[in-house]
Amino acid sequence: MSQSHPTADPAFLDRLIAAYEHYRGVLNPRQKKGIRMIFSDLSGDNQAVSQNYDIVAPFYDDLLNFMDYQTPTKLTEIVSKFLDLEDTNLSIFDAGTGTGLLGEYIRQAGFRGKLVGVDISPESIQYIQSYRSGIYDWVTVGDITNLLEIPDASFDVVVSAGVIGLAPQESLDEILRVTKSQGLIAYSLNQNRYDSEDFWGTKHESLRNKNLWQNIEGYPEKHTYYANQDLGLSSYFYIFSFRKC
Ligand SMILES: C[S@@+](CC[C@H](N)C(=O)[O-])C[C@H]1O[C@@H](n2cnc3c(N)ncnc32)[C@H](O)[C@@H]1O
Repeated sequence: MSQSHPTADPAFLDRLIAAYEHYRGVLNPRQKKGIRMIFSDLSGDNQAVSQNYDIVAPFYDDLLNFMDYQTPTKLTEIVSKFLDLEDTNLSIFDAGTGTGLLGEYIRQAGFRGKLVGVDISPESIQYIQSYRSGIYDWVTVGDITNLLEIPDASFDVVVSAGVIGLAPQESLDEILRVTKSQGLIAYSLNQNRYDSEDFWGTKHESLRNKNLWQNIEGYPEKHTYYANQDLGLSSYFYIFSFRKC
């Protein structure tokens, strides 16, 4: 039985919406509902995920910047540590791009190779096409548990920020499939979820035992999700990093 994410706490959501309105101005009921929903447990319900991320897509960056969302920054640090960012032959797949925050950080860090992304929310992909067209080489609407258009062993690196957990564990098989041999996989997972749902650890171990991937030394790392202290929220995510065998 999964523990809910601390952000699903209704009192926290009231506080967040009030603080964000104070900062940005009045939100309409649909926008407020969208915020409540994306911080609820939508895992496994692709239709709800897509609909609610569609609602928040126009202000997702602004809201997450307000919360001081840390996941894309931390994943970018890993990419920067393990890759020669100037190597134009390298390719990165962003599994669950959202509005493209992670891609933006990776480009800001100096990545000059190919960047491709998929997300299940059409409005998030539309946002990238409208506002971040120079960041990704290609983005499309799709489900990361079933990346039909992407052949096996296509990418040197697969990164995923804040997606897995919402997307089920099968997404790890698909991520592994599209990664090249010796490629890097780095993804974040909510701490509560990992600690309360045994199947994540079991899945990691099973892929390790089948010699499909190996842990990269020093991982997982644990980080705070949102650095905005005024919101009074303590929640954490792990970053897992693996090398495909
Ligand atoms: C918390 S947001 C993270 C977005 C982005 N990676 C970031 O860090 O800003 C979660 C994203 O996962 C996407 N998502 C959830 N399940 C998915 C799935 N099965 N396939 C593709 N995208 C999915 C949602 O549409 C949403 O954009």
